[in-house]
Amino acid sequence: MKKTSRKVVIVGTGFVGTSIAYAMINQGVANELVLIDVNQEKAEGEALDLLDGMAWGEKNVSVWSGTYEECQDANLVILTAGVNQKPGQTRLDLVKTNATITRQIVKEVMASGFDGIFVVASNPVDILTYLTWQESGLPASRVVGTGTTLDTTRFRKEIALKLAVDPRSVHGYILGEHGDSEVAAWSHTTVGGKPIMEYVEKDHRLEENDLTVLADKVKNAAYEIIDRKKATYYGIGMSTTRIVKAILNNEQAVLPVSAYLNGEYGEEDIFTGVPSIVDENGVREIIDLSITPQEKAMFHQSVSELKAVLDTVR
Ligand SMILES: NC(=O)c1ccc[n+]([C@@H]2O[C@H](COP(=O)([O-])OP(=O)(O)OC[C@H]3O[C@@H](n4cnc5c(N)ncnc54)[C@H](O)[C@@H]3O)[C@@H](O)[C@H]2O)c1
Repeated sequence: MKKTSRKVVIVGTGFVGTSIAYAMINQGVANELVLIDVNQEKAEGEALDLLDGMAWGEKNVSVWSGTYEECQDANLVILTAGVNQKPGQTRLDLVKTNATITRQIVKEVMASGFDGIFVVASNPVDILTYLTWQESGLPASRVVGTGTTLDTTRFRKEIALKLAVDPRSVHGYILGEHGDSEVAAWSHTTVGGKPIMEYVEKDHRLEENDLTVLADKVKNAAYEIIDRKKATYYGIGMSTTRIVKAILNNEQAVLPVSAYLNGEYGEEDIFTGVPSIVDENGVREIIDLSITPQEKAMFHQSVSELKAVLDTVR
């Protein structure tokens, strides 16, 4: 069914859900934005607050708090409900609680007759994207996890700071789990079209050790932020909005979302972060990069760790 209303439902109006809503409104992404939360008053308050800025917005967006029936004619449902990491917790620690919450929500969304695309942001995102796919019965292409989009923007920003260039001129991806086993694909990272290794080996603008430090910094960014302010949300707000734009505008943009692997990268039956072509139907195609044997081994390890966690909840 082709939908034209540009109606987006966000389930979960905590830090992440409202940051996505705020970014979407500021970028004029949707026409209709529905907020759902188990704490209905919170959803109502957030909708009222967001509406207050509309006279100065990019465009007039209808925002209201609603029920799952609203999902029936939505283009997209974004899942951000659940518990977030507390200081010292990994994303995988959240799995039992958030798996139960996600399954219950997906059931309610599907009961409305929803026939659009899920975008999953709740953690552990790769696992919850898989469960959303299973529970919804939708084709895997129509279930999109935020994957390593946030890690990738962090990666590009860190390289950009090091070389004093615009992060949008840095190209490269973090692959695999959105979490501790993620992989920096240095072999496919370029700045202004020039491979990052040339900045190390030819220009000596970076040292080999800089790359290790930088990848660790990206991996540990959430811990650093959570230690200081208890949660992370602006980065994921912008990352999710980027994915939503790619879908609603049928962009065919390449984004490192959590997509279903069916042989790509030598892996199958798992959702994880890989560069994917995103259009109005969700994930059209996965870009299967020829990464180095070492990167491939790390990617395989990441997938194995995800599968072990998935086995505890499926
Ligand atoms: N994918 C990413 O890159 C990324 C980045 C940051 C955070 N996250 C994840 O996003 C999720 C939300 O984080 P947050 O900081 O917004 O948490 P939060 O506690 O601020 O908000 C969660 C919201 O979910 C609601 N909720 C809980 N159970 C529900 C249910 N059954 N139905 C409807 N609503 C329900 C809560 O009432 C709350 O408003 C967490 O899992 C967090 O780890 C993901």
